[in-house]
Amino acid sequence: MTFRQKHLLGIEPLHPTEITTLLDLADSYADQNRRGIQHKDVLAGLTQINMFFENSTRTQASFELAGKRLGADVMNMGMQASSIKKGETLIDTALTLNAMHPDLLVVRHPHSGAVDLLAQKVNCAVLNAGDGRHEHPTQALLDALTIRRAKGRLHRLSIAICGDIAHSRVARSNIMLLGKMENRIRLIGPPTLMPSGIGAFGVEVFEDMAEGLKDVDVVMMLRLQKERMDGGFIPSEREYFHRYGLDAAKLRHAKPDAIVMHPGPMNRGVEIDGNIADDINRSVIQEQVEMGVAVRMAAMEVLAQNLRSARGPQGVMA
Ligand code: NCD
Repeated sequence: MTFRQKHLLGIEPLHPTEITTLLDLADSYADQNRRGIQHKDVLAGLTQINMFFENSTRTQASFELAGKRLGADVMNMGMQASSIKKGETLIDTALTLNAMHPDLLVVRHPHSGAVDLLAQKVNCAVLNAGDGRHEHPTQALLDALTIRRAKGRLHRLSIAICGDIAHSRVARSNIMLLGKMENRIRLIGPPTLMPSGIGAFGVEVFEDMAEGLKDVDVVMMLRLQKERMDGGFIPSEREYFHRYGLDAAKLRHAKPDAIVMHPGPMNRGVEIDGNIADDINRSVIQEQVEMGVAVRMAAMEVLAQNLRSARGPQGVMA
């Protein structure tokens, strides 16, 4: 197996063969999940703790389900109710948890870099479930698997990522993953929602949807991340939908068999027309959720294998 990482903190450190290893394993889990096949032995005897310092529906649920399908003991820490609220620092929380000897720690945090910091303080494998605007590696992996299954390949595709790029860890991880796999990436959005220095990422940037969507294979829409904005980024939601919301007319500029994606949660009528989101001939949004469970099973399996070999037969770290 070619996956050498101790943690899954981002797409940035991954080699393309490591990405392919994860996707191949996740692909077989996706098929087996459909057939209801169980694998309770894979993470048997391991403890998985989910720490979400930010709200989450899909990501937290699928990490929990993935762990349970593989036989881990899964615990969800209610971080709203934890000692963090009483002023404990992130590092103190990490050390407390570490003393309980978890094997897999799944962390989402509003600050970029917080998950990397935590990984340096604990003895277990850490999976980043989204840190600020930085990375969301399992989202990019599940998006990649969804694309690969729909298009039959994950290279030389033309992929448009549209909307609020500046505030999006999903966009950042996807740009890195899809770039490593040699796809053409187009970013479409108003200049106020484009990160500065985006040229360095080897992407094409468009302000106009009709131009940017021309002949693309994949249209990836992003949520307007209102919670990360401090005002003034868009004139109004109505105006935004008119210029950047994906509807049937704008989608006609893409290839006739282009697929539509969205990581969720969706603002229907803001970045995407509800009819497009629900169109089973174009939208793969439900498949993205399905692939999310499979990708998280694969990621936890490879990290658990690396953890077990680092610990050796006695179960202690070398
Ligand atoms: C994304 C996230 O939290 O980064 N959602 C998700 O994980 N499915 C995107 C978003 O919040 O818009």
